[in-house]
Amino acid sequence: GLYAVIPAGGSGTRLWPLSRAGHPKFLHPLTGTDASLLQATVDRLLPMTETDHIFVVTGVAHAAAVARQLTAVPEENILVEPSPRDSCAAIALAAAVIARREPEAIMGAFAADHLIANGEHFIDVIRQAMNGAEQGLLMTLGITPTRPETGYGYVQCGNPVGDGPVLAVEEFKEKPSYEVAESYVKSGNYLWNAGMFVWRVDVFLNELARQQPQLHAGIARIAQAWDSPTREDVLGEVWPTLPRISVDYAVMEGAAAVGRVGTVPGDFGWNDVGDFHTLGEVLAADQSGNVVVGQDPSAGVGVMLRESENLVVVPTSGRLVAALGVRDLIIVDTPDAVLVCPRDRAQEVKSIVDELKETG
Ligand code: GDD
Ligand code: MG
Repeated sequence: GLYAVIPAGGSGTRLWPLSRAGHPKFLHPLTGTDASLLQATVDRLLPMTETDHIFVVTGVAHAAAVARQLTAVPEENILVEPSPRDSCAAIALAAAVIARREPEAIMGAFAADHLIANGEHFIDVIRQAMNGAEQGLLMTLGITPTRPETGYGYVQCGNPVGDGPVLAVEEFKEKPSYEVAESYVKSGNYLWNAGMFVWRVDVFLNELARQQPQLHAGIARIAQAWDSPTREDVLGEVWPTLPRISVDYAVMEGAAAVGRVGTVPGDFGWNDVGDFHTLGEVLAADQSGNVVVGQDPSAGVGVMLRESENLVVVPTSGRLVAALGVRDLIIVDTPDAVLVCPRDRAQEVKSIVDELKETG
C-alpha cells in the first residue's frame, strides 16, 4: 500500500497570533471540528493506508506535541530533525527510511497544514496519481487557479499520459512573480501545485541524486546509520550541512524540465489555510455568514454573535468572545494576544509579525 509522509515544519506567519514558532499552524484545530490540521491530514489518509505506513517529519521542538496528537502513528515513524532545513531534506529523509523497508514503494508527501473538503474525491485523485507514479513520474496534484497567487507553485499541463487522467507536465514553476503568475492564470493551461506529491521512492531518490548530489549523499549517510546506535551522532553531524531548500525548487522544477513530472487535476475543496480569510471561505458558515473556527459548530459555546455578519472568529483562550453589530471582521482571541482586522486585509497580518520581530 501507499506510504504517506507528512513534513510538518514552518510557522505560518499570516495566521498570527494563533500560529507561533512554538505552536505552528499544523497543531491547531483550524478544521471546523476539534481535530488539528495535522490530525485531519492523517485521518484523511487512513482509508488508503495503514498507520505503520504513515511517517511524520518534524522538528525537535514539536515532536512531543505531534506524538500526543497522533496516538495511532507508531512512535518510530515520527522522524525528528535537529533543525529546520526546509521540505526537501525532510521528505528525502523519510524517503530514504522507507526505501530501506521497500525500495520501490509508492510514497506520497502530504502537507501537514491544508484543508480538504471532499475527502472521498481526494482519495480517488491519489489513486490516479499512484498510477502515474507507477509509470515512473513524479506526480503532483493540480488545482485550478482562481487568482495570480505568488506563494504557490504552478504546473503547465501537457498531453494526457495513456488514457488519462494523468497529464504530462511541461514546466514546474515555484513561486513566480505576480506578472508571471497572472499570465499563467490567463493562459488557462496552468494548475496550482497543491504541494502534495506521489512517486516511487527509488525514482524520487534518483532524481534527488541527479539534481542535489550533496543533499542525497547526506541523507544516504543518515539512512545508513538509521538502525544503528550511531543514528543520533550521524544525524547531528550531517543534518546541519544539508542545503536548506524546498522540494519544489530542489527537485520538481528540474524534473519537469526533463519530462519526469505528471499531474492529476483534482477538485477536492483544497485550501492551504494561508490566512484567516481563506480559512473562513472553506469552513461551514452559519446563516449570517459567520464562521467559528476550531470547535464543533454544534457545541455552540465560547462565542456570542449578535446582529453580526461575515465574521471569522477564532476563540482559543477559553474566554467568551462576543460581537455586536459588526461585519466583515476577523477576530482571533488567544491567551496573550488579540487580533481584530477586516476580512479583506487578512494578508497584511504578516506585517504585524515582521514589526514584532524587528522590535523584539
Ligand atoms: N519537517 C519539516 N521541516 N517540514 C517542513 C519544513 C522543515 O524545515 N519546511 C516546510 N515543511 C513542511 C510544511 O509544514 C508543509 O507541510 C510542507 O513542508 C510545505 O512547506 P511550506 O513552507 O508550507 O511550503 P509553501 O506553502 O511555501 O509551498 C508549497 O505548498 C504550496 C501549496 O500550499 C509548495 O509545494 C508550492 O508549490 C505549493 O503551491
Ligand atoms: Mg504552505
